[in-house]
Amino acid sequence: MRIYQSEDYKSMSRRAANIISAQVIYKPDCVLGLATGGTPVGTYKQLVDWYKEGDLSFAEVRSVNLDEYLGLSPHHEQSYRYFMQSNLFDHIDIKPENTHVLNGLAKDPQAECAAYNKLIQDLGGIDLQLLGMGHNGHIAFNEPGDDFGLETHLVTLTDRTIDANTRFFDSRDDVPRQALSMGIKNIMNARRILMVVSGEDKAEAVLKAFAGPVTKEVPASVLQLHPDVTLVADKAALSKLVEAGVPVCG
Ligand code: PGA
Repeated sequence: MRIYQSEDYKSMSRRAANIISAQVIYKPDCVLGLATGGTPVGTYKQLVDWYKEGDLSFAEVRSVNLDEYLGLSPHHEQSYRYFMQSNLFDHIDIKPENTHVLNGLAKDPQAECAAYNKLIQDLGGIDLQLLGMGHNGHIAFNEPGDDFGLETHLVTLTDRTIDANTRFFDSRDDVPRQALSMGIKNIMNARRILMVVSGEDKAEAVLKAFAGPVTKEVPASVLQLHPDVTLVADKAALSKLVEAGVPVCG
């Protein structure tokens, strides 16, 4: 595991974008596992800037996203498909048919999940998976207590996750209660993992995930068992880990 400490959110985003960019340059037709949420926004912005400057092309890249709210159409402003279009896909040269996000309107969610697992397999697996982390240590919508052996599945959001995501909706009642999400098994099967975390409010989760025991109660702690994980975080998010004496790179 490599842990990189960045001064602030902007430099964290730049460093994460640099790792993704290196992956794309090294293997132009790579499969990127992509994430939504507040944290990766700066990373995507940096990638778009480099694309516009002509330093990077996504023409051959394939992508799979981690999750999607059940019941939201791809055109809903809070759907993760919409997020990906507006933060990344609409601004780069990735082919629309090469971008994959779970269908929140799927009539048969179980069949949608099974088809997504097959899709990931057919693409040859994920080369680099980008992840954020929730305050309770969740990754994608894998919440505390969820089985590490799960692949893509239908999840019921915890109250804490609904609370955290309310900021993106008009009211708490508008936040969907269920989602489709890759499971820990899909994530752990990625060849490389890049996690981005920012802010003091995540410091406790970072400490538990990377210096605590591997436990289902902190889903991100499973990453300690993955052979190629890079954590890129700002000083605030790493504060408790550093206090605990875990070495980080500057
Ligand atoms: P955030 O979400 O980046 O919006 O904090 C991360 C997550 O819940 O995975």
